[in-house]
Amino acid sequence: MIPVLPLLLVLCVSSPVANAKISSLKSNAVCSGHRADLPMLISVSIPLSSRTWLPLNHRRGPCSPFSSSETIPSTGDVLHRDRLRADSIRKGLNGTAAAKRGDVTVATTLGSSLGTLEYVVTVGLGTPAATQTVYMDTGSDVTWVQCRPCPAATCHPQKDPVFNPARSATYSAVRCGSAACKGLDRDRYGNGCSRRLCQYLVKYGDSSNTTGTYSADKLTLTPSYAVDHFQFGCSHAAHLFSDKADGLMGLGGGSRSLVSQTAMKAFSYCLPPTASYSGFLTLGVPRASSSRFVVTPMYRSSNVDTFYLVLLQGITVAGRRLNVPPSVFTARAVMDSGTIITRLPPKAYRALRAAFRKEMKMYPRVASSSTILDTCFNLSGVVGDVKVPSVALVFEKGATVELDPSGIIINDCLAFAPTGGDESVGIIGNVQQRTLEVLYDIGGGAVGFRGGAC
Ligand SMILES: *[C@@H]1O[C@H](CO)[C@@H](O)[C@H](O)[C@H]1NC(C)=O
Ligand SMILES: *[C@@H]1O[C@H](CO)[C@@H](O)[C@H](O)[C@H]1NC(C)=O
Ligand SMILES: *[C@@H]1O[C@H](CO)[C@@H](O)[C@H](O)[C@H]1NC(C)=O
Repeated sequence: MIPVLPLLLVLCVSSPVANAKISSLKSNAVCSGHRADLPMLISVSIPLSSRTWLPLNHRRGPCSPFSSSETIPSTGDVLHRDRLRADSIRKGLNGTAAAKRGDVTVATTLGSSLGTLEYVVTVGLGTPAATQTVYMDTGSDVTWVQCRPCPAATCHPQKDPVFNPARSATYSAVRCGSAACKGLDRDRYGNGCSRRLCQYLVKYGDSSNTTGTYSADKLTLTPSYAVDHFQFGCSHAAHLFSDKADGLMGLGGGSRSLVSQTAMKAFSYCLPPTASYSGFLTLGVPRASSSRFVVTPMYRSSNVDTFYLVLLQGITVAGRRLNVPPSVFTARAVMDSGTIITRLPPKAYRALRAAFRKEMKMYPRVASSSTILDTCFNLSGVVGDVKVPSVALVFEKGATVELDPSGIIINDCLAFAPTGGDESVGIIGNVQQRTLEVLYDIGGGAVGFRGGAC
Protein backbone atom coordinates (compact mmCIF):
# COMPACT_ATOMS: atom_id res chain seq x y z
CA MET A 1 0.00 0.00 0.00
CA ILE A 2 1.26 3.49 -0.77
CA PRO A 3 1.66 5.51 2.41
CA VAL A 4 -0.69 8.45 2.57
CA LEU A 5 0.96 11.84 2.62
CA PRO A 6 -0.04 13.40 5.91
CA LEU A 7 0.70 16.91 4.68
CA LEU A 8 -2.96 17.72 4.87
CA LEU A 9 -2.98 17.32 8.61
CA VAL A 10 -0.38 20.00 9.03
CA LEU A 11 -1.99 22.54 6.75
CA CYS A 12 -5.21 22.31 8.71
CA VAL A 13 -3.78 23.50 12.01
CA SER A 14 -5.97 26.26 13.46
CA SER A 15 -8.92 25.60 11.20
CA PRO A 16 -12.00 24.35 13.06
CA VAL A 17 -12.00 21.05 11.21
CA ALA A 18 -9.06 18.80 10.58
CA ASN A 19 -9.87 16.62 7.59
CA ALA A 20 -8.20 13.35 8.37
CA LYS A 21 -7.79 10.63 5.81
CA ILE A 22 -9.12 7.48 7.44
CA SER A 23 -5.92 5.75 6.48
CA SER A 24 -3.85 8.42 8.21
CA LEU A 25 -5.41 7.33 11.51
CA LYS A 26 -4.36 3.74 10.96
CA SER A 27 -1.06 1.99 10.48
CA ASN A 28 0.08 0.97 7.01
CA ALA A 29 1.75 -2.35 6.35
CA VAL A 30 5.15 -0.80 5.69
CA CYS A 31 7.43 1.41 7.74
CA SER A 32 7.81 4.80 6.10
CA GLY A 33 10.51 6.01 8.49
CA HIS A 34 10.58 9.67 9.38
CA ARG A 35 8.01 11.92 7.77
CA ALA A 36 10.41 13.74 5.52
CA ASP A 37 7.48 15.18 3.57
CA LEU A 38 6.79 17.67 6.33
CA PRO A 39 8.41 20.93 5.29
CA MET A 40 9.13 21.87 8.89
CA LEU A 41 10.71 18.53 9.56
CA ILE A 42 13.52 18.87 7.11
CA SER A 43 14.87 22.04 8.63
CA VAL A 44 14.07 21.50 12.27
CA SER A 45 13.16 18.07 13.46
CA ILE A 46 15.95 15.96 12.16
CA PRO A 47 19.05 17.80 13.28
CA LEU A 48 21.30 15.11 11.91
CA SER A 49 24.26 16.90 13.36
CA SER A 50 22.76 16.83 16.85
CA ARG A 51 24.76 14.65 19.15
CA THR A 52 21.83 13.31 21.07
CA TRP A 53 19.09 12.62 18.58
CA LEU A 54 17.93 9.02 18.33
CA PRO A 55 15.07 7.36 16.49
CA LEU A 56 12.11 6.11 18.49
CA ASN A 57 9.61 3.54 17.28
CA HIS A 58 6.39 1.92 18.30
CA ARG A 59 6.93 -1.51 19.84
CA ARG A 60 4.46 -3.06 17.41
CA GLY A 61 3.78 -2.45 13.76
CA PRO A 62 5.96 -2.04 10.68
CA CYS A 63 8.66 0.18 12.26
CA SER A 64 9.07 -1.99 15.37
CA PRO A 65 12.54 -3.39 15.95
CA PHE A 66 10.88 -6.49 17.40
CA SER A 67 9.88 -9.33 15.14
CA SER A 68 6.35 -9.13 13.80
CA SER A 69 5.52 -12.51 15.30
CA GLU A 70 4.78 -10.87 18.63
CA THR A 71 1.13 -11.49 19.40
CA ILE A 72 -0.92 -8.33 19.26
CA PRO A 73 -3.07 -7.87 22.35
CA SER A 74 -6.68 -6.80 21.86
CA THR A 75 -7.59 -3.15 22.23
CA GLY A 76 -9.61 -4.11 25.30
CA ASP A 77 -6.51 -5.68 26.84
CA VAL A 78 -4.34 -2.68 26.10
CA LEU A 79 -6.90 -0.27 27.51
CA HIS A 80 -7.28 -2.41 30.61
CA ARG A 81 -3.54 -2.06 31.22
CA ASP A 82 -3.86 1.61 30.50
CA ARG A 83 -6.33 1.84 33.36
CA LEU A 84 -3.88 0.04 35.67
CA ARG A 85 -1.18 2.52 34.77
CA ALA A 86 -3.40 5.57 35.21
CA ASP A 87 -4.55 4.22 38.58
CA SER A 88 -1.03 3.55 39.79
CA ILE A 89 0.12 7.04 38.83
CA ARG A 90 -2.85 8.54 40.63
CA LYS A 91 -2.30 6.37 43.67
CA GLY A 92 1.38 7.20 43.72
CA LEU A 93 0.65 10.91 43.82
CA ASN A 94 -2.38 10.61 46.05
CA GLY A 95 -0.51 8.38 48.49
CA THR A 96 2.10 11.09 48.73
CA ALA A 97 -0.39 13.79 49.55
CA ALA A 98 -1.95 11.56 52.17
CA ALA A 99 1.45 10.62 53.61
CA LYS A 100 2.30 14.27 54.05
CA ARG A 101 -0.82 14.70 56.11
CA GLY A 102 0.53 11.83 58.20
CA ASP A 103 -2.40 9.45 57.92
CA VAL A 104 -1.23 6.88 55.38
CA THR A 105 2.01 5.07 54.78
CA VAL A 106 3.83 5.95 51.59
CA ALA A 107 2.88 3.85 48.59
CA THR A 108 5.26 0.93 48.09
CA THR A 109 4.79 1.04 44.35
CA LEU A 110 7.79 2.77 42.88
CA GLY A 111 7.04 2.67 39.17
CA SER A 112 3.99 2.86 36.96
CA SER A 113 2.46 -0.03 35.07
CA LEU A 114 4.67 -1.43 32.34
CA GLY A 115 1.99 -3.01 30.21
CA THR A 116 1.20 0.13 28.23
CA LEU A 117 4.73 1.22 27.40
CA GLU A 118 4.67 1.50 23.66
CA TYR A 119 7.78 3.24 22.40
CA VAL A 120 11.29 1.85 22.19
CA VAL A 121 14.75 3.25 21.47
CA THR A 122 17.95 1.42 20.68
CA VAL A 123 21.08 2.27 22.66
CA GLY A 124 24.54 0.79 23.22
CA LEU A 125 25.69 -0.43 26.63
CA GLY A 126 29.24 -1.24 27.72
CA THR A 127 32.55 -1.42 25.86
CA PRO A 128 32.38 -2.55 23.15
CA ALA A 129 28.81 -1.25 22.99
CA ALA A 130 26.18 -3.99 23.04
CA THR A 131 22.93 -3.11 21.29
CA GLN A 132 19.95 -2.93 23.65
CA THR A 133 16.35 -2.13 22.73
CA VAL A 134 14.55 -0.53 25.65
CA TYR A 135 11.22 1.10 26.47
CA MET A 136 11.21 4.81 27.06
CA ASP A 137 9.33 5.71 30.26
CA THR A 138 8.77 9.14 31.77
CA GLY A 139 6.85 7.48 34.62
CA SER A 140 9.83 5.77 36.28
CA ASP A 141 13.44 6.55 37.11
CA VAL A 142 15.65 3.46 37.13
CA THR A 143 17.02 2.27 33.79
CA TRP A 144 17.58 -1.49 33.63
CA VAL A 145 18.40 -4.26 31.19
CA GLN A 146 18.41 -8.01 31.61
CA CYS A 147 21.93 -9.22 32.43
CA ARG A 148 23.74 -12.52 32.49
CA PRO A 149 23.32 -14.72 34.36
CA CYS A 150 19.62 -14.62 33.58
CA PRO A 151 17.94 -17.95 34.29
CA ALA A 152 15.07 -18.78 31.96
CA ALA A 153 12.73 -19.16 34.91
CA THR A 154 13.03 -15.52 35.90
CA CYS A 155 13.96 -13.81 32.63
CA HIS A 156 11.95 -13.24 29.49
CA PRO A 157 13.08 -13.87 25.92
CA GLN A 158 14.32 -10.62 24.41
CA LYS A 159 15.28 -9.16 21.08
CA ASP A 160 19.04 -8.73 21.51
CA PRO A 161 21.61 -10.95 23.23
CA VAL A 162 21.33 -10.59 27.01
CA PHE A 163 23.86 -8.01 28.27
CA ASN A 164 26.96 -9.73 29.58
CA PRO A 165 28.85 -7.59 32.15
CA ALA A 166 31.87 -9.87 31.91
CA ARG A 167 32.34 -8.86 28.28
CA SER A 168 32.37 -5.12 28.96
CA ALA A 169 35.69 -3.43 29.74
CA THR A 170 33.95 -0.48 31.42
CA TYR A 171 31.42 -2.32 33.59
CA SER A 172 31.43 -2.04 37.36
CA ALA A 173 28.98 -3.25 39.98
CA VAL A 174 27.98 -0.64 42.56
CA ARG A 175 29.41 -1.56 45.99
CA CYS A 176 27.37 -1.61 49.14
CA GLY A 177 28.04 1.39 51.32
CA SER A 178 28.96 3.59 48.34
CA ALA A 179 27.22 6.91 47.82
CA ALA A 180 25.41 5.51 44.78
CA CYS A 181 24.04 2.61 46.82
CA LYS A 182 22.96 4.87 49.69
CA GLY A 183 21.23 7.13 47.18
CA LEU A 184 19.35 4.17 45.78
CA ASP A 185 18.11 3.28 49.26
CA ARG A 186 17.07 6.85 49.89
CA ASP A 187 15.04 6.78 46.67
CA ARG A 188 13.34 3.56 47.83
CA TYR A 189 14.77 1.47 45.00
CA GLY A 190 17.29 -0.30 47.26
CA ASN A 191 17.08 -4.04 47.88
CA GLY A 192 19.95 -4.72 50.27
CA CYS A 193 23.26 -6.36 49.55
CA SER A 194 24.43 -9.54 47.94
CA ARG A 195 28.13 -10.44 48.09
CA ARG A 196 28.84 -6.81 48.96
CA LEU A 197 27.14 -5.65 45.79
CA CYS A 198 24.28 -3.15 45.86
CA GLN A 199 20.91 -4.61 44.84
CA TYR A 200 18.02 -2.68 43.33
CA LEU A 201 14.31 -3.45 43.05
CA VAL A 202 11.62 -1.68 41.06
CA LYS A 203 8.01 -2.69 41.50
CA TYR A 204 5.59 -1.45 38.89
CA GLY A 205 1.94 -0.68 39.41
CA ASP A 206 0.72 -3.76 37.54
CA SER A 207 2.76 -6.01 39.89
CA SER A 208 5.57 -6.39 37.36
CA ASN A 209 8.97 -6.08 39.00
CA THR A 210 12.68 -6.23 38.26
CA THR A 211 15.60 -6.85 40.59
CA GLY A 212 19.34 -7.41 40.34
CA THR A 213 22.70 -5.71 40.84
CA TYR A 214 22.90 -1.94 40.62
CA SER A 215 25.69 -1.23 38.15
CA ALA A 216 27.54 1.40 36.16
CA ASP A 217 28.76 1.29 32.57
CA LYS A 218 29.14 3.43 29.50
CA LEU A 219 25.81 4.21 27.81
CA THR A 220 26.14 5.11 24.13
CA LEU A 221 23.12 7.01 22.87
CA THR A 222 24.40 8.02 19.45
CA PRO A 223 27.71 7.40 17.69
CA SER A 224 28.97 10.72 19.02
CA TYR A 225 27.35 10.90 22.44
CA ALA A 226 27.88 8.60 25.40
CA VAL A 227 27.38 8.84 29.16
CA ASP A 228 30.27 7.36 31.16
CA HIS A 229 29.56 5.54 34.42
CA PHE A 230 25.84 5.55 33.75
CA GLN A 231 24.07 3.85 36.66
CA PHE A 232 21.47 1.22 35.81
CA GLY A 233 20.01 -2.00 37.07
CA CYS A 234 21.49 -5.29 35.86
CA SER A 235 18.31 -7.33 36.06
CA HIS A 236 18.58 -10.98 37.01
CA ALA A 237 14.87 -11.40 37.55
CA ALA A 238 12.25 -9.38 35.69
CA HIS A 239 8.67 -10.49 36.15
CA LEU A 240 6.83 -8.65 33.41
CA PHE A 241 4.02 -8.81 30.98
CA SER A 242 5.27 -11.04 28.17
CA ASP A 243 7.62 -8.90 26.25
CA LYS A 244 10.54 -8.67 23.88
CA ALA A 245 12.23 -5.55 25.21
CA ASP A 246 15.73 -5.87 26.66
CA GLY A 247 14.89 -3.38 29.38
CA LEU A 248 13.68 0.10 30.11
CA MET A 249 15.05 3.62 30.04
CA GLY A 250 13.80 5.68 32.98
CA LEU A 251 13.23 9.32 32.04
CA GLY A 252 11.40 10.36 35.20
CA GLY A 253 12.45 13.31 37.34
CA GLY A 254 14.02 11.29 40.17
CA SER A 255 17.75 11.28 40.85
CA ARG A 256 18.26 7.76 39.37
CA SER A 257 16.95 8.69 35.92
CA LEU A 258 18.96 9.20 32.77
CA VAL A 259 18.10 12.90 32.70
CA SER A 260 19.32 13.42 36.25
CA GLN A 261 22.56 11.57 35.51
CA THR A 262 23.48 13.80 32.59
CA ALA A 263 24.25 17.49 32.90
CA MET A 264 21.59 18.48 30.40
CA LYS A 265 18.49 18.48 32.58
CA ALA A 266 16.24 18.42 29.55
CA PHE A 267 14.96 16.00 26.96
CA SER A 268 12.32 15.92 24.28
CA TYR A 269 10.61 13.34 22.15
CA CYS A 270 8.17 13.11 19.29
CA LEU A 271 5.77 10.18 19.11
CA PRO A 272 4.82 9.39 15.49
CA PRO A 273 1.20 9.63 14.26
CA THR A 274 0.97 5.89 13.61
CA ALA A 275 3.21 2.86 13.99
CA SER A 276 4.15 3.24 10.30
CA TYR A 277 6.35 6.22 11.08
CA SER A 278 9.35 6.81 13.30
CA GLY A 279 9.67 9.50 15.95
CA PHE A 280 12.68 10.65 17.93
CA LEU A 281 14.15 11.19 21.37
CA THR A 282 16.70 13.91 22.12
CA LEU A 283 18.60 14.94 25.20
CA GLY A 284 19.21 18.61 26.00
CA VAL A 285 17.28 21.74 25.07
CA PRO A 286 16.93 21.97 21.28
CA ARG A 287 18.46 25.42 20.91
CA ALA A 288 17.91 26.07 17.24
CA SER A 289 14.20 25.48 17.39
CA SER A 290 13.34 26.53 20.92
CA SER A 291 11.41 29.58 19.71
CA ARG A 292 8.99 27.25 17.98
CA PHE A 293 7.81 25.74 21.24
CA VAL A 294 4.85 26.99 23.23
CA VAL A 295 5.78 26.58 26.88
CA THR A 296 3.97 26.15 30.17
CA PRO A 297 5.33 25.84 33.73
CA MET A 298 6.38 22.38 34.92
CA TYR A 299 5.34 21.23 38.40
CA ARG A 300 6.82 18.46 40.51
CA SER A 301 5.29 16.61 43.40
CA SER A 302 7.34 17.23 46.54
CA ASN A 303 7.67 13.57 47.54
CA VAL A 304 7.39 11.52 44.37
CA ASP A 305 9.78 13.49 42.19
CA THR A 306 9.35 11.07 39.29
CA PHE A 307 6.37 12.76 37.67
CA TYR A 308 6.23 15.92 35.59
CA LEU A 309 3.01 17.89 35.99
CA VAL A 310 1.36 20.66 34.03
CA LEU A 311 -1.71 22.81 34.61
CA LEU A 312 -4.42 22.59 31.99
CA GLN A 313 -6.74 25.59 31.91
CA GLY A 314 -9.09 25.00 29.04
CA ILE A 315 -9.98 23.03 25.94
CA THR A 316 -11.20 24.22 22.56
CA VAL A 317 -13.23 22.15 20.12
CA ALA A 318 -13.66 23.39 16.55
CA GLY A 319 -12.09 26.67 17.60
CA ARG A 320 -14.55 27.31 20.45
CA ARG A 321 -13.50 27.28 24.09
CA LEU A 322 -15.50 24.82 26.19
CA ASN A 323 -17.45 26.33 29.03
CA VAL A 324 -15.33 24.81 31.79
CA PRO A 325 -13.92 27.01 34.56
CA PRO A 326 -10.12 26.72 34.97
CA SER A 327 -10.67 25.72 38.63
CA VAL A 328 -11.80 22.29 37.37
CA PHE A 329 -8.19 21.50 36.49
CA THR A 330 -6.67 22.47 39.85
CA ALA A 331 -5.37 18.95 40.60
CA ARG A 332 -3.03 19.34 37.59
CA ALA A 333 -2.07 16.66 35.09
CA VAL A 334 0.90 14.34 34.70
CA MET A 335 2.67 14.44 31.33
CA ASP A 336 3.26 10.75 30.67
CA SER A 337 4.77 8.84 27.76
CA GLY A 338 3.36 5.53 29.03
CA THR A 339 -0.32 6.23 29.60
CA ILE A 340 -2.23 5.91 26.34
CA ILE A 341 -5.51 7.78 26.82
CA THR A 342 -5.64 11.30 28.29
CA ARG A 343 -7.57 11.48 31.57
CA LEU A 344 -9.52 14.67 32.27
CA PRO A 345 -11.50 15.79 35.31
CA PRO A 346 -15.06 14.44 34.76
CA LYS A 347 -16.57 17.94 34.34
CA ALA A 348 -14.08 18.79 31.60
CA TYR A 349 -14.49 15.40 29.96
CA ARG A 350 -18.27 15.71 29.80
CA ALA A 351 -18.04 19.13 28.15
CA LEU A 352 -15.49 17.86 25.64
CA ARG A 353 -17.57 14.81 24.82
CA ALA A 354 -20.72 16.86 24.25
CA ALA A 355 -18.98 19.32 21.94
CA PHE A 356 -17.18 16.56 20.06
CA ARG A 357 -20.35 14.53 19.52
CA LYS A 358 -22.09 17.64 18.21
CA GLU A 359 -19.33 18.28 15.67
CA MET A 360 -19.30 14.62 14.61
CA LYS A 361 -23.07 14.25 14.34
CA MET A 362 -22.89 13.32 10.63
CA TYR A 363 -21.25 10.02 11.59
CA PRO A 364 -23.33 7.25 13.16
CA ARG A 365 -22.36 6.48 16.72
CA VAL A 366 -21.74 2.89 17.73
CA ALA A 367 -21.39 1.17 21.07
CA SER A 368 -17.84 1.08 22.37
CA SER A 369 -16.11 -2.22 22.85
CA SER A 370 -13.98 -0.86 25.69
CA THR A 371 -14.85 0.22 29.18
CA ILE A 372 -12.72 3.35 28.98
CA LEU A 373 -13.87 5.01 25.76
CA ASP A 374 -17.52 5.93 25.38
CA THR A 375 -17.74 7.99 22.20
CA CYS A 376 -17.24 5.82 19.14
CA PHE A 377 -18.32 6.18 15.52
CA ASN A 378 -18.97 3.91 12.59
CA LEU A 379 -16.48 5.26 10.09
CA SER A 380 -16.33 2.11 8.00
CA GLY A 381 -18.49 3.50 5.21
CA VAL A 382 -16.61 6.80 4.96
CA VAL A 383 -14.90 7.43 1.64
CA GLY A 384 -12.07 9.95 1.66
CA ASP A 385 -11.73 12.34 4.58
CA VAL A 386 -13.24 12.17 8.02
CA LYS A 387 -14.06 15.64 9.28
CA VAL A 388 -12.61 15.57 12.77
CA PRO A 389 -13.19 18.81 14.70
CA SER A 390 -9.93 20.40 15.79
CA VAL A 391 -9.16 20.00 19.48
CA ALA A 392 -6.66 22.16 21.37
CA LEU A 393 -5.46 21.93 24.95
CA VAL A 394 -4.79 25.27 26.57
CA PHE A 395 -2.18 25.13 29.32
CA GLU A 396 -1.18 27.71 31.90
CA LYS A 397 0.38 30.87 30.46
CA GLY A 398 -1.74 30.48 27.35
CA ALA A 399 0.23 27.60 25.84
CA THR A 400 -2.25 26.41 23.22
CA VAL A 401 -1.51 22.99 21.81
CA GLU A 402 -3.40 21.94 18.70
CA LEU A 403 -3.74 18.15 18.59
CA ASP A 404 -3.11 16.14 15.45
CA PRO A 405 -6.17 14.13 14.26
CA SER A 406 -4.20 11.00 15.20
CA GLY A 407 -4.14 12.44 18.72
CA ILE A 408 -7.92 12.87 18.94
CA ILE A 409 -9.36 9.62 17.61
CA ILE A 410 -8.18 6.10 18.34
CA ASN A 411 -9.92 3.04 16.87
CA ASP A 412 -12.72 5.35 15.69
CA CYS A 413 -13.37 6.53 19.27
CA LEU A 414 -12.72 9.83 21.04
CA ALA A 415 -9.39 9.15 22.77
CA PHE A 416 -10.15 10.83 26.10
CA ALA A 417 -11.56 9.51 29.37
CA PRO A 418 -12.60 10.96 32.72
CA THR A 419 -10.48 10.57 35.89
CA GLY A 420 -11.98 8.92 38.94
CA GLY A 421 -13.13 12.22 40.42
CA ASP A 422 -12.81 15.96 39.92
CA GLU A 423 -10.21 16.07 42.71
CA SER A 424 -7.84 13.53 41.17
CA VAL A 425 -4.84 14.33 39.06
CA GLY A 426 -5.26 14.19 35.28
CA ILE A 427 -2.90 12.57 32.79
CA ILE A 428 -1.85 13.80 29.34
CA GLY A 429 -1.49 10.48 27.52
CA ASN A 430 0.65 9.46 24.60
CA VAL A 431 -2.10 9.42 21.97
CA GLN A 432 -2.62 13.16 22.45
CA GLN A 433 1.14 13.76 22.21
CA ARG A 434 1.45 12.22 18.73
CA THR A 435 3.34 14.35 16.17
CA LEU A 436 4.20 16.94 18.85
CA GLU A 437 7.75 17.42 20.04
CA VAL A 438 7.25 17.46 23.81
CA LEU A 439 10.10 19.15 25.65
CA TYR A 440 10.75 18.44 29.34
CA ASP A 441 12.97 21.34 30.33
CA ILE A 442 13.60 20.28 33.89
CA GLY A 443 16.34 22.82 34.49
CA GLY A 444 14.11 25.60 33.17
CA GLY A 445 10.98 24.33 34.94
CA ALA A 446 8.94 24.23 31.77
CA VAL A 447 7.18 21.84 29.42
CA GLY A 448 7.21 22.83 25.73
CA PHE A 449 5.21 21.68 22.73
CA ARG A 450 6.00 21.99 19.03
CA GLY A 451 3.45 20.85 16.48
CA GLY A 452 4.09 18.84 13.32
CA ALA A 453 7.48 17.64 14.52
CA CYS A 454 7.32 14.04 13.29
C1 LIG B 1 -7.29 10.58 46.55
O1 LIG B 1 -7.48 11.05 47.87
C2 LIG B 1 -8.78 11.57 48.10
C3 LIG B 1 -8.82 12.14 49.51
O2 LIG B 1 -8.11 11.36 50.41
C4 LIG B 1 -9.81 10.44 47.90
O3 LIG B 1 -11.12 10.94 48.10
C5 LIG B 1 -9.68 9.93 46.48
O4 LIG B 1 -10.56 8.84 46.29
C6 LIG B 1 -8.27 9.47 46.22
N1 LIG B 1 -8.16 9.14 44.80
C7 LIG B 1 -7.54 8.05 44.38
C8 LIG B 1 -7.50 7.84 42.93
O5 LIG B 1 -7.04 7.23 45.14
C1 LIG C 1 7.90 -10.09 41.50
O1 LIG C 1 6.85 -10.65 40.71
C2 LIG C 1 6.70 -12.05 40.87
C3 LIG C 1 5.65 -12.52 39.89
O2 LIG C 1 4.50 -11.72 39.94
C4 LIG C 1 6.34 -12.38 42.32
O3 LIG C 1 6.24 -13.75 42.49
C5 LIG C 1 7.44 -11.83 43.24
O4 LIG C 1 7.08 -12.02 44.58
C6 LIG C 1 7.64 -10.34 42.98
N1 LIG C 1 8.79 -9.89 43.75
C7 LIG C 1 8.72 -8.84 44.57
C8 LIG C 1 9.96 -8.53 45.31
O5 LIG C 1 7.72 -8.14 44.67
C1 LIG D 1 -21.25 0.56 9.86
O1 LIG D 1 -21.63 1.06 8.62
C2 LIG D 1 -21.61 0.07 7.59
C3 LIG D 1 -21.93 0.73 6.24
O2 LIG D 1 -22.01 2.09 6.31
C4 LIG D 1 -22.63 -1.00 7.92
O3 LIG D 1 -22.61 -2.00 6.92
C5 LIG D 1 -22.28 -1.63 9.25
O4 LIG D 1 -23.27 -2.57 9.63
C6 LIG D 1 -22.17 -0.56 10.33
N1 LIG D 1 -21.65 -1.16 11.55
C7 LIG D 1 -22.20 -0.97 12.74
C8 LIG D 1 -21.52 -1.66 13.90
O5 LIG D 1 -23.16 -0.26 12.94
